[in-house]
Amino acid sequence: MLVARGLTKDYPSGTQRLTVLQDVSFEVPAGAFVSIVGPSGSGKTTLLGLLAGLDTPSRGTVTLDGVDLGSLAEDARARLRGEKVGFVFQSFQLIPTLTAQENVQVPLELAGTVSARDAATRAADLLARVGLAGRTHHFPQQLSGGEQQRVALARAFVNEPRILFADEPTGNLDGTTGERIVELLQQLNRERGCTIVLVTHDAALAARTQRTIRLRDGVVVEDVHHVHDAAGSAAATA
Ligand SMILES: Nc1ncnc2c1ncn2[C@@H]1O[C@H](COP(=O)(O)OP(=O)(O)OP(=O)(O)O)[C@@H](O)[C@H]1O
Ligand SMILES: [Mg+2]
Repeated sequence: MLVARGLTKDYPSGTQRLTVLQDVSFEVPAGAFVSIVGPSGSGKTTLLGLLAGLDTPSRGTVTLDGVDLGSLAEDARARLRGEKVGFVFQSFQLIPTLTAQENVQVPLELAGTVSARDAATRAADLLARVGLAGRTHHFPQQLSGGEQQRVALARAFVNEPRILFADEPTGNLDGTTGERIVELLQQLNRERGCTIVLVTHDAALAARTQRTIRLRDGVVVEDVHHVHDAAGSAAATA
C-alpha cells in the first residue's frame, strides 16, 4: 500500500544543511494500522507529509498504492490525495470562514461524486459520530481545540479514504473523547479496511496499533509489531 525508500529531507540552515529525516525506509501493507512515535522534533510530522504527498523529499521515494509520488506533478499528486488519502493535521487547518459542517463537506464537494444534500447529510452524520452533533453550524473559532480536532478528523474520514494519515489525532482530547476517537479509527480500519498511519505521543495508543515505528533525530530506531490478545492488551515483538 505504502512504500518509503531512503527518504531523506534536509533544509538549508545558514551556510549548512539541517537533515530532519535520514534514509527512512519501510513498507506498510494494505489494511495495516501503524503508529509513528518519537520525541518532539524527531521528524514525525515531516515524515507524514512526505508519505501523504503533501511535501517532496530531498532524496528517496514514496510509492502510494503502486504510484511513485515523485513521478507526479503537483496537480496530479493533489488529485491522488483527493481520491485516496485522508489527512488530519497536527494544527487542524480548518477553513475559518466555513462552519464545522461545511469544513467536513469540502472533500466531498471537491470530489464531486455526491449531491450537495447527500454531502450535507454525510457531514452531519460524521460530526455526530465524533460527538459534535450540536456544533455543526459553529465556525472554527467558536470551537474548542479538541472540537476543532474532531472536525478535522471528520473531514479526513468523509471521503472514506483508502489510507488515513493522522498527526496526533488525540493530542487535544480528554480521556473519554480520545477513547471514542481511537475506537472510531479502529472501526474504520477493521470494517472498511482503511490503512491508518498515525503519529502519537501517547504510548498506550501506540500499543493499541499493530505496529510502532520509532524515530529519533530523523532516523528509524525501532520498528515493532504488537501482538494483541483477545482482551486487547498488547505485547511487543521485534
Ligand atoms: N520548513 C522547515 N524548515 C526548516 N526546518 C524545518 C522545517 N520544517 C521542520 N523543520 C525542522 O525539522 C525537525 C522535525 O520537525 P517535525 O515537525 O517533523 O517534528 P515532529 O517529530 O513532528 O515534532 P513534534 O512532536 O513537536 O510535533 C524540527 O527540528 C524542525 O525544526
Ligand atoms: Mg509534529
